[in-house]
Amino acid sequence: MEEVTFVGEALPFGERITLSDWNHRNVSVRKYFELHKDSIENIQEFWASKARELEWLSPWTKISEPGAHPHVTRWFPGGRINISHLCLDRHVSGKRRNKLSLIWEGEPRDEKGGPMEVRKYTYYELLTEVNRVAYAFRNELGLKRGDKAALYMPMIPELPIFLLALARLGVVFTAVFSGFSAENLALRIKDLGARTILTADGFYRRGKVIKLKETVDGAVSLSATVESVVVVKRAGLDVHMTEGRDHWLHDLLEGAPSSPEIQPEPVESDSPLYVLYTSGTTGGPKGIIHDHGGYATLLHTTMKEVFDMKDEDVYYCTADIGWVTGHSYIVFGPLLVGATTIMYEGTPDYPAPDTWWAIIERYGVSIFYTTPTGTRMLMKFGDDPVKKHDLSTLRLIHSVGEPINPSAWRWLYDVVGQKRCPVGSTWWMTETGGIMISYAPGTHFVPMKPGANGPPLPGIDAEVVNEAGEPVSPGTKGFLVIKKPFPGMPSPPTGIWGDPERYAKVYFEKFPGKNYFYTGDYAVKDTDGYIWVAGRADEVLKVAGHRIGTYELESALVSHESVAEAAVVAGPDAVKGEVPIAFVVLKQGRDPTPELTLELKKWTKSKFGSIAEPSQLFFVSRLPKTRSGKIMRRLIKAVASGSPLGDVTTLEDEAAVDEVQNAYQDLKRAVERID
Ligand code: WT7
Repeated sequence: MEEVTFVGEALPFGERITLSDWNHRNVSVRKYFELHKDSIENIQEFWASKARELEWLSPWTKISEPGAHPHVTRWFPGGRINISHLCLDRHVSGKRRNKLSLIWEGEPRDEKGGPMEVRKYTYYELLTEVNRVAYAFRNELGLKRGDKAALYMPMIPELPIFLLALARLGVVFTAVFSGFSAENLALRIKDLGARTILTADGFYRRGKVIKLKETVDGAVSLSATVESVVVVKRAGLDVHMTEGRDHWLHDLLEGAPSSPEIQPEPVESDSPLYVLYTSGTTGGPKGIIHDHGGYATLLHTTMKEVFDMKDEDVYYCTADIGWVTGHSYIVFGPLLVGATTIMYEGTPDYPAPDTWWAIIERYGVSIFYTTPTGTRMLMKFGDDPVKKHDLSTLRLIHSVGEPINPSAWRWLYDVVGQKRCPVGSTWWMTETGGIMISYAPGTHFVPMKPGANGPPLPGIDAEVVNEAGEPVSPGTKGFLVIKKPFPGMPSPPTGIWGDPERYAKVYFEKFPGKNYFYTGDYAVKDTDGYIWVAGRADEVLKVAGHRIGTYELESALVSHESVAEAAVVAGPDAVKGEVPIAFVVLKQGRDPTPELTLELKKWTKSKFGSIAEPSQLFFVSRLPKTRSGKIMRRLIKAVASGSPLGDVTTLEDEAAVDEVQNAYQDLKRAVERID
């Protein structure tokens, strides 16, 4: 089998781990794939049976059908539904009325290290808050079905409340991660055509107050569509409020009744719920559309299969709601199944590296969803911070966002889960809306392998193929595709907001005539049929699990007056998985000084956002290019990651060999000088 390594570790393809406590769910791999095959052969009926578990406001007329644009699929057309209704009203009118829906913890700690602020909402209380906000948005701002809003929010309860209120009114929203820059926020506001922005004055992170409203002001000054800005008072900052445009949330809520009844809009199943922007190979971020009905079907199903969610469970996902994981598996997924979901404002290592473990102990968390980067970061502090806490309530652990290296898997399994909990690495992406490849301990649990994602879930027709779109033999690296449409996939009208051509091109044209959804990932399938996703096959970085386009960072760099050309590639990092490494060609007459290095790093951060600055930046006199002028990224990447390159001359047939050799030596010298 071809050796695949993650963060310096070879994968133990053959190892298998079973858990006797889960025997009642265990199935053999052979049996699992029989069930899987059946779900794919009857894929329409499979998903219809899952959709029937939801409460429809009026029934669908078809399970799925092609949309108006190529490769766009409508799921459950004709049906009317509202995800806010499914997440709230259904539980409030049933047995979960007084069950906790949301537990939130702020970052600031008291002298004993405990949280200074905790807010808890029962389902009834959450619905009441959502209705009050929906009332204010409708009556004070005039928001109605089909309108667009953008959120730039910290991890405070108002964020999920806003998402649910907007969904309830049928307002299409985009949530922008609070680490993005004003320019990046403005780009998204413009692309969606948002006329309302929801934000906060600031929030707490690592003991500091991070300002948000200022960034919003910067973005709004670049955006023609914005009519109103709603500001939550979180950090007590004295912010500038523009008369007539900016409103404090508490002022807007003053006129709202204490418990208004706002009926959820009965929207079409396949009408947009939200647009979430994500990075690709070229161009700006793509706005991925997710609908109400198909998306809710996938989330509801995976909450049961993958998380085995029961009413007694307490669920904690460590993601940020600014990314898809938070949308799907902090807010909508858990609430769809009536779970108690936990939200924490701060970072895992502040004020001490036991914040997660303290949260698990404090609230009796039973199901924990986290990331490889977070795990690796906390592993460095050893086992003691974990052992200080009683984690006996934990019964299930999953990770997401990037490949999990076997030793991080081991640590979650041995130390955090105490060899009692299934530990999985759930593969999916912004575009899929929900989990696609994972163990399913809630229904059919197969033996675990450290580092694997597992078999595809039922109803998900995943395959690893070669350039021609044919399945590769076990152990061979290929491209991960999904061969049949699935609920949760990018939605009508256009898959990518406003750009149906780009949607078809990026996801469906790699394998002409096949209709396969191309994920952009490399993967290996082993002899058991388990899939091991190995990382991106395109120019996309996964920095601490965050998806960042090298193109976007390069654009930020070349917008600096001293920079002529820039190439950003992934370098390996023991904690973050990947980090951006920049190679910069300066304009004539500019000096490659250490000051300029710092300035360019800072510049990238201010242009792109605080989530990514180059971890290293090298000045070079030229970039290696093919004869047609294409930057040879594979070569640059090899230099950046210190991996052997072999014969440079065979890298690209059409390259001007001498030029490339020179550029290559230049890159190497630059790297060696700094190291
Ligand atoms: C990319 C998608 C899924 C929600 C958060 C990220 C990588 C994600 C795994 C995993 C290996 C993974 C892939 C994918 N990825 N989960 N369990 N094992 N790789 O969503 O930001 O859209 O990123 O993350 O490369 O394509 P995203």
